[in-house]
Amino acid sequence: MTPEIFQPTSLAGMTLPNRLIRSATHESLADASGAPGAAHEKLYTALAAGGAGAIITGYAGVQQDGKSSLMNMLMINEDSLVPAYRKLTDAVHRYGTPFILQIAHCGRQTRSAVTGMPTVAPSSLKDFIFNEERPHELSESEIEAIINSFVAAAGRAKKAGFDAVQLHLAHGYLLAGFLSSYTNRRRDRWGGSTENKFRIVSEILRRIRDADGDYPVLVKMNGFDHRRGGMRQPEAVEIARMLEASGCSAIEVSSGTVEEGLSIMRGPLFPSEALLASNFRFKSLPSALKKVLAPLIRLAMPSPKPWRGYNLDAAKAIRQAVSIPVIAVGGIHTLEGIKGVLESGTADFVSMSRPFVIEPNIVRKLQEGRQTASRCIECNYCAIMIEDGPLRCWHGRLPGSKR
Ligand SMILES: Cc1cc2nc3c(=O)[nH]c(=O)nc-3n(C[C@H](O)[C@H](O)[C@H](O)COP(=O)(O)O)c2cc1C
Repeated sequence: MTPEIFQPTSLAGMTLPNRLIRSATHESLADASGAPGAAHEKLYTALAAGGAGAIITGYAGVQQDGKSSLMNMLMINEDSLVPAYRKLTDAVHRYGTPFILQIAHCGRQTRSAVTGMPTVAPSSLKDFIFNEERPHELSESEIEAIINSFVAAAGRAKKAGFDAVQLHLAHGYLLAGFLSSYTNRRRDRWGGSTENKFRIVSEILRRIRDADGDYPVLVKMNGFDHRRGGMRQPEAVEIARMLEASGCSAIEVSSGTVEEGLSIMRGPLFPSEALLASNFRFKSLPSALKKVLAPLIRLAMPSPKPWRGYNLDAAKAIRQAVSIPVIAVGGIHTLEGIKGVLESGTADFVSMSRPFVIEPNIVRKLQEGRQTASRCIECNYCAIMIEDGPLRCWHGRLPGSKR
């Protein structure tokens, strides 16, 4: 039987009013300690009031060296942060909306200039977007500490009233870095075979279960990336099976790494102007030079195609291999597209990010028939400009731009 989009349903023990989930979206709004505040409350209650079936927060850092180089990341690395999160979960729960904290370590996809610490990774491979120097290869005891940081973060999320956590295993961040042979060149028990590369994730899941019983742990993983020797669909399917066997509650299927350009959130044109306005390497260049560089960058960074529904093959392959729920994300921005995903059995849920940036109440609008598609034009300015300021929709226009 085809699942109805707008009928109440359950996911990992949570009751959702519909099958449309807000996918994790970094907000650049935390204070210096990484605590959420009034701006988060405004954003997240707007999403809840707007009908989101469940809300996944922007990524929250489990350790200082894994903090994002994007502005003002949420952190969940200290017990003292719990009361601020409790205020936020209470506010969202007034709407009855399930609320999930995404927990992450950025690995080599951050900058030591921002974290104040060396960047770390499974292997010492420089990331050309982020790193000024090669990251430090993690030692056995440092891996142990990171596992324990994820477990402590999940415990804090539970105490703060989140209904679940989502481990960020996608987009090239630390745990994705372990899972992909492109970034994991280790020859010890943390690298080599799929089982070894998965060990850090299975340890996190096992220790969360030991500490917090059946507290739901979801993941967001890559169905593939485009790196040489990196993640491909057959290995992603194998990892999905391992996740299910390790007690994971649901899998959101994404793809790509930041180094690949905007393959994670695709659009028709690379947003050169936004990159030149906000990126640490470019923003202080003279504007005449920026005018010359903008078309060149666009030429050098062709947008991957297709830019709609690009993770659906991987989501379907994973759904066929596991019996836990699968969430599809990535360019699913129309009612027709959402119906297609659910009716074809490609996934059990659909999640979206950019449509909620322009319209926090997009779910309500789709449900009430006021719109059949998101108004997002996939300009991706939102994704680039969070390096330098709070999340907002730019709709393809920077202040003073003629485009
Ligand atoms: C501004 C912005 C911030 C994002 N932050 C996160 C994040 O914190 N964690 C994450 O897993 N994905 C993040 N993403 C990726 C989205 O969750 C999603 O996977 C991607 O945008 C594709 O979905 P969409 O086509 O519905 O936007 C972000 C995307 C955008 C546009």
